[in-house]
Amino acid sequence: MTLVPVHKLITYPTIFPSIGQQPKTKWPKHASEAQCKKIVEWQEQAKKENKAIYVRDDLFKRRMIVTPERDVYIVFNKRSQNDEILGKDYSYKAVRYAEDFFTGQKYATATMDLDNDLEESENELRNLLAVQGLENFVQLKCYVDYTSKKVHTKKDTPTTGLPKKKRRLILELGDAGDLDQAIEQHSLTRLQLRQIILQILRALAVLHEDKKTIHRDLRGPNIFLKKIKEGYKPLIGDMSTACHLENDYERRQIRTSCWYLSPECVKSSLAHGEQLHKLREAKKLQKSEMRDAKIAEIKKEIRKFANQFLENTNPKLDIWSVGCIIHQINRGIFSLPWCHSHEEKPVFSRIKSFKHIAPRDPMDDPILYSLTEQILQVDPQKRPTAAALLSLMETSLQQEKEKLEKERLASYRSLSSKRLPKIPPKYPSIKDIVHH
Ligand SMILES: Nc1ncnc2c1ncn2[C@@H]1O[C@H](COP(=O)(O)OP(=O)(O)O)[C@@H](O)[C@H]1O
Ligand SMILES: [Mg+2]
Repeated sequence: MTLVPVHKLITYPTIFPSIGQQPKTKWPKHASEAQCKKIVEWQEQAKKENKAIYVRDDLFKRRMIVTPERDVYIVFNKRSQNDEILGKDYSYKAVRYAEDFFTGQKYATATMDLDNDLEESENELRNLLAVQGLENFVQLKCYVDYTSKKVHTKKDTPTTGLPKKKRRLILELGDAGDLDQAIEQHSLTRLQLRQIILQILRALAVLHEDKKTIHRDLRGPNIFLKKIKEGYKPLIGDMSTACHLENDYERRQIRTSCWYLSPECVKSSLAHGEQLHKLREAKKLQKSEMRDAKIAEIKKEIRKFANQFLENTNPKLDIWSVGCIIHQINRGIFSLPWCHSHEEKPVFSRIKSFKHIAPRDPMDDPILYSLTEQILQVDPQKRPTAAALLSLMETSLQQEKEKLEKERLASYRSLSSKRLPKIPPKYPSIKDIVHH
């Protein structure tokens, strides 16, 4: 007996063996025939509408996302069922788990409120699409826009009583926490940390040079780690703050977390703030020609510093942030002089007066120290590009390898002259990170 027309079963015919097609993916064992039938229906609907759909049926306890490519994701988003929250849940997006219905593969899923955070959400989506297919950036699997059954309850807003418009993303999952946690827990080896930095630099070189885009919020909590056979793969995430270098409007905004903001941006932002304060004060003065001239003068200064901030929002800002991250990997999360507070004012004041990093410590990883020394320079012109840093790091690693190999051979020779036949172990080489 054929339950559904043949044309609906081209991809997943395994529960209908009589049809005899090659299955792309098997139906999971736990799926009932009624559920499979429902899913085929949804897949057809998604294909017809040529977009992902967000669906629910009593046959399933969960919400599902079904794409025109026939992918099906189960969404774990019920607070009442204690579905685990990924992340801290204090941002504009709530991040939870999702799972591929067919393979059980885990994903991250983020919900956004399109009524209140449309601009941020559009920006994030645009940037996620820009880094599609790029190694070491979180990959977007699909997204769906929908209208929630819930309505806005907040009183006195134009949206009160209207249904909530939402967007849900399905994202590649960093299943091993984030870089900040790894630094704090000392859970990675020196070799693994170096490999992670190499990959981040490689990813940034592509982002800056090929995509002409900057991330603007690089920091440990936005770099997720994914466990792979060879160790850990960093995934640069949280693209909500990224911007194209031609987008002057966006480049005027501060999006970087204060610990990671470059001195030149801090300075122009502080100067801009000071002028705004002066303007407020000047406006309080009695109307006069002098007052008007003063206001005009201050407005000119405001424009100057706003433009300066725009100019300073360039790839060197990301590079500075990466320098801070490498410093934290080398010496600990709170090792930078301005990581003594979370408040902008004291942090900015210390970044503003920063001259150079402390001298090398015997505990430092020499390669990481030399990177931070080059990056954390107040003059952005002196800060190398991501591509230059990548090649610097590769050269240092190669030199270190050769030096250790020489030492190994020398010690072997001296040992063998004492007739000790054991071959010393080979120093582990930094494997080139192969792009998968
Ligand atoms: N792809 C992902 N893999 C693993 N965890 C994620 C992923 N995306 C987000 N998270 C978690 O959710 C948190 C918030 O997401 P993020 O994209 O950084 O948004 P924001 O910082 O703007 O709130 C992250 O700090 C992280 O813990
Ligand atoms: Mg974040």
